Amino acid sequence: MYPLDPDVDSIRVLIVEDDEDDVFLIKELLKERFLNINITIEHVYSPEPLSNLFEAAKNNDICIFDYRLGSLHGLDLLKKMREQDVITPVIFLTGRGDQEIAVQAFRLGATDYLAKSSLSAEQLFHSVCYSLNLSKEEGQRRHAEKKLKSSHEELILAHEELKKSMSKLQTVQNRIVVSEKMASIGRLAAAICHEILNPLNIISGHVQVLKMERAEEKDLLQDLSSINEEILRIEKIVNGLLKFSRKGQMDLAVACVHQELESVLTIVEKEMNLQNISVIREFDDKLPKLNIDCDRIRQVFLNIFNNATHAMPDGGVLIVRTSFVQYPENQLKENSERRHSRADYINDKLVEFPHVKIEFADTGVGISKDAMDKIFEPLFTTKPEGKGTGLGLSVCHAIVEKHGGSIQVQSEPSKGAVFIVNLPVNPPKETAKNIEEEDGI
Ligand SMILES: Nc1ncnc2c1ncn2[C@@H]1O[C@H](COP(=O)(O)OP(=O)(O)OP(=O)(O)O)[C@@H](O)[C@H]1O
Ligand SMILES: [Mg+2]
Repeated sequence: MYPLDPDVDSIRVLIVEDDEDDVFLIKELLKERFLNINITIEHVYSPEPLSNLFEAAKNNDICIFDYRLGSLHGLDLLKKMREQDVITPVIFLTGRGDQEIAVQAFRLGATDYLAKSSLSAEQLFHSVCYSLNLSKEEGQRRHAEKKLKSSHEELILAHEELKKSMSKLQTVQNRIVVSEKMASIGRLAAAICHEILNPLNIISGHVQVLKMERAEEKDLLQDLSSINEEILRIEKIVNGLLKFSRKGQMDLAVACVHQELESVLTIVEKEMNLQNISVIREFDDKLPKLNIDCDRIRQVFLNIFNNATHAMPDGGVLIVRTSFVQYPENQLKENSERRHSRADYINDKLVEFPHVKIEFADTGVGISKDAMDKIFEPLFTTKPEGKGTGLGLSVCHAIVEKHGGSIQVQSEPSKGAVFIVNLPVNPPKETAKNIEEEDGI
């Protein structure tokens, strides 16, 4: 026995039946039993056109299909309807009960099956109630499935977000490690440099004395000159290291980046042209002036130009591009809310503050994956002995950091390299204060 759901106060029934007497009978039987229910019955003789029938099925709570419908078989109709994802419950009617047809109808998605020969009001009532309950449960199941699917999709999205945040965190952590490594290398380098310079001065003094005392011994003089050359080379390296760890005063002044770039290019461009390297300027004419230490920033540019020249022994192109980057107010607010510690601050600062971006893109030999991790480390060089100290980029890194900026590189072997220097229009006060505390500026 299947009682009617107490919530149901109206039922819409679609009858697909080509025999008028049968339609009359079904209508009467329905009305007889559903006394207190508002029952609306729609009837069609022919299932065609199918699109109209499916639309009508969707608009009704239940369908009653005859097994024989002119040219179309009731089972075919049911199959096509389910293929079109029309899920309205269907009660299947045949002349006399036939078990085989019943099984096929259930397989194709019929909700119930009745024989016209023994059809009664009670039977029809229970079949309709049963079908409606089943349909309600099916609806609830589909709804739950849909919710589960959307929760699953949300979960995937959240997982993706988490993955992105993790990789961002990893990048920030790597940068912190690099910054801390640089700071401790700097302190160590300063201590070692002073230890080396003292005995080096003494050795140099002795060499000068020997040169004067034994001026007539030509072979010895040659050896002494070689020793002197090596002393000068050591001095150059040690002084470079000292610059990297320098605690000197920052001499900030308002300056135009283009002028600073041009003043360095005046020195290096001729040499570059001789080496078949052309320099292309893509300067943003709306670039604001910056508050920078000009000498040190020129030193950064000089090293990048020299490196690019060295990376293009057979000639090439160096593009120097400048641009002003400023983010919209709302984005700035969001970013500033994320700012907690100095580490966050340092890594986020260029997103928050208006800054000038200077890109140096060369068409040179590029940088290998292994070297990419090391190029900002002091003393890392791929240049032949005596050609490079490997201090250039580590000094650049220290200088740019002191300005509250950042220096990045993008490169692949044999695909050139792009060095990007970002400098804030004004070094943020917080950074300046921290630098003062840390470096005693
Ligand atoms: N534009 C570039 N293309 C390819 N490799 C580069 C480029 N710039 C830097 N490198 C690599 O980074 C290394 C380190 O550069 P860095 O400026 O620190 O030292 P260096 O140029 O070797 O020595 P120095 O600066 O004392 O002359 C270089 O030896 C080179 O391998
Ligand atoms: Mg260099």
